[in-house]
Amino acid sequence: MKGIILAAGAGTRLHPASIPISKILLPVYDKPMIYYPLSTLIMGGIRDILVITNKEDDFKFRKLLGDGSQFGLKIDYLIQHVQRGISDAFLIAEDWIDGEDVVLILGDNIFYGQGLEETILSAMKNNEGATMFGYYVKDPERFGVVEFDENMNVLSLEEKPKNPKSNYAVVGLYFYNGDVCEYAKRLKPSDRGELEITDLNKIYMEEGKLRVKLFDESIEWKDAGTFDSLLDTGILIRDAKKNSGINVGCPEKIALEKGFVSKEDILKRIVKFKDNDYREYVEKLCN
Ligand code: G1P
Repeated sequence: MKGIILAAGAGTRLHPASIPISKILLPVYDKPMIYYPLSTLIMGGIRDILVITNKEDDFKFRKLLGDGSQFGLKIDYLIQHVQRGISDAFLIAEDWIDGEDVVLILGDNIFYGQGLEETILSAMKNNEGATMFGYYVKDPERFGVVEFDENMNVLSLEEKPKNPKSNYAVVGLYFYNGDVCEYAKRLKPSDRGELEITDLNKIYMEEGKLRVKLFDESIEWKDAGTFDSLLDTGILIRDAKKNSGINVGCPEKIALEKGFVSKEDILKRIVKFKDNDYREYVEKLCN
């Protein structure tokens, strides 16, 4: 399975903070936001990764992540020239995907907690059409919303509904089989002019190939795309490190656990960081 990180959004909800730089590069505690979705993909054992950026920020992502070899990955980049919505990723990346199964993660979606790795791996293993995740929230009108019955059959899917039919938001992590690019070609822009991810998932639903799973309470999900959630998420990550000693979203750590890189390789590269807590954390992992 291949992985795509969508990092092309204008991030207007974070203006002026995101005027000079993509919101996906803004720091969440001690690292750029993209480290978190990247770590989530590595957790799923995914090594072949595409980052979709906007034109202005493309070189900054390349500067940060390079070809991915420092994490034992292969990272490619493509540009979304016009803001045409999340599903546009599958039109942009059709050749890159090349008919394989693919997971899409939104650049501002941060996941952590016990059981995350098992949840991702089981979704990957059992996916036949599309798999998405529901997460209980108090403000579902801000998200894609899924309604389902007691057997987890999807009954409806709506994008930012005024009167949500459930409290389950659809998180920005989606698993698709090889049909995804063909289905994306059928989409028409929504009223806000975007190829909606919810409309793509609805095609899978109509084909009877959409599965929804729930994240249990031990897993935290943050959409870090607003001022408050950006700050709150940073504080949560800092507190998690203080309390458990674990630095969430550290790709070096996860790549090491997965056996994608050797301790020696990591130590060789981390020396270019000045003495700081991040370097110290990574060095401790290796020694
Ligand atoms: C997007 C999707 C929405 C999903 C959300 C998760 O919303 O359109 O269905 O629930 O991501 O973060 P956006 O962030 O574009 O408003």
